[in-house]
Amino acid sequence: MSTPREAVWNKLSLHQDPTLVQLFADDPQRVETFSARFEMEEGGVLFDWSKTHMTEQLLAEFEELAQVSQFDEMRRRLFAGEVVNPTEGRAAEHSALRGVGKETSVEEAEALLARMQTLVEAIHEGALGEVKHLIHVGIGGSALGPALAVDALSRDLSLVDVHVVSNIDGVALEAAFAACDPATTLLAVASKTFTTIETMTNAASALKWLADNGVADPAGRVIALTAAPEKAVEWGVDETRVLPFAESVGGRYSMWSSIGFPVAIAIGWQDFEAMLEGAADMDRHFRDAPMRENLPLRAAFGDLYYARVRGAETRAVFCYDERLGLLPDYLQQLEMESNGKSVTVDGAPVDGPTAPITWGGVGTDAQHAVFQLLHQGTHLVPINFIASIAPGDALDPAHHRILLMNCFAQGAALMAGKTTDDPARSYAGNRPSTTILCDDLDAATLGALIAFHEHRTFANAVMMDINPFDQFGVELGKEIANKIEKGGASFDPSTENLLKLAGLSAG
Ligand code: F6P
Repeated sequence: MSTPREAVWNKLSLHQDPTLVQLFADDPQRVETFSARFEMEEGGVLFDWSKTHMTEQLLAEFEELAQVSQFDEMRRRLFAGEVVNPTEGRAAEHSALRGVGKETSVEEAEALLARMQTLVEAIHEGALGEVKHLIHVGIGGSALGPALAVDALSRDLSLVDVHVVSNIDGVALEAAFAACDPATTLLAVASKTFTTIETMTNAASALKWLADNGVADPAGRVIALTAAPEKAVEWGVDETRVLPFAESVGGRYSMWSSIGFPVAIAIGWQDFEAMLEGAADMDRHFRDAPMRENLPLRAAFGDLYYARVRGAETRAVFCYDERLGLLPDYLQQLEMESNGKSVTVDGAPVDGPTAPITWGGVGTDAQHAVFQLLHQGTHLVPINFIASIAPGDALDPAHHRILLMNCFAQGAALMAGKTTDDPARSYAGNRPSTTILCDDLDAATLGALIAFHEHRTFANAVMMDINPFDQFGVELGKEIANKIEKGGASFDPSTENLLKLAGLSAG
């Protein structure tokens, strides 16, 4: 006897799909049926799934999968602030920071954000003297979101020059030092736990750099962004400059909290708030929209179809927008750290492949580097194109026109292919892509885009029956690094040899 989940997966695995070209030929309404617009207060975003193999029948079967996976109940628990991360006994309350969630959590988040707003505005008004630069040290979720949003939103006007430094490799921090004047630099130390070795080492070196370069009160230039405020105070940050956030906000979901401090410093509070509001629009949509219209859920259907039914091992994201150059990095952590698991919520082996490998880049650059494989290689790679109708630049409109034309041309070419007498010059076609087309990439739209991906990741997890909110896979390497640091432990011959060559063991 198969379980209800197995029964749906079995049904899905029997699909023999027509080609994409055939799907369009069979249905003149395909673009309308398989695209949807997300309306925002100003502008909106078009999601076009028509160049994927999704059909009405597949949609219906995935809806059945969502039902047997208790999608409604899991989504209710997420927004109710109930435990959705059972291995750590935690809720996942990032949406509360956007005003959507359990009432008491929303109130708590509002109070913490109000505290952050006060400090951000005071800094802009000169309370800490002249501030031209901010060095933000943090890693993983404490760096990727802020780096993305600062890069995307502060190109036209940056109130403060922000440098996000994550790597323990001192080369990264030295590059920030070279670009900053210590007399007008603040240091933000971002770490949920306030124990991460890379961040704490970078923070100590940055503090020393301030002291060595004549800053009278270096500790007075530090702002801590953390869910462990007592540790920040212990480390030496004055309580008035510690901006806490709730334990129930996961690291890779934390850019909406005080971890977003550098974003607010760079773009101003009003735009930071607009980013939260855009994300809140997507939260309400994900929470309330029925399955057929639910954008993150529909995206997850496509993800699961390609990863589990068609065996795609990767998915690629190409942003035809220079400002979103860091989005693939951000999505890698969001999707791979969340859904790169091998066991179900109950600890049993999963019943199929989990997160595909997320990768990508910017267009048109990627066309001249990796698109050869996408057009003629042997891998199946479902692609997401992301672009904005409004340009991000003020140059000759030819730039943006050529950018968008190329984006759309790639999707068309991947689907249509081309047959010639010469196999080397032929393209098989039938390669799927989705296009996400924003009216304009403003702060609210970026917020909505990121929240869309958060919820898409959650929806994928629910239908794979896994917990997207823990990340024990990152611990073992840290443990071994600690053992090496302490000394006295022995390892495999290869590791021993490498340690010896680098002068890191007595051996
Ligand atoms: O190593 C993984 C991780 O725990 C991520 O999940 C997290 O975003 C990152 O490290 C940084 O952690 P913290 O914010 O506690 O310094």
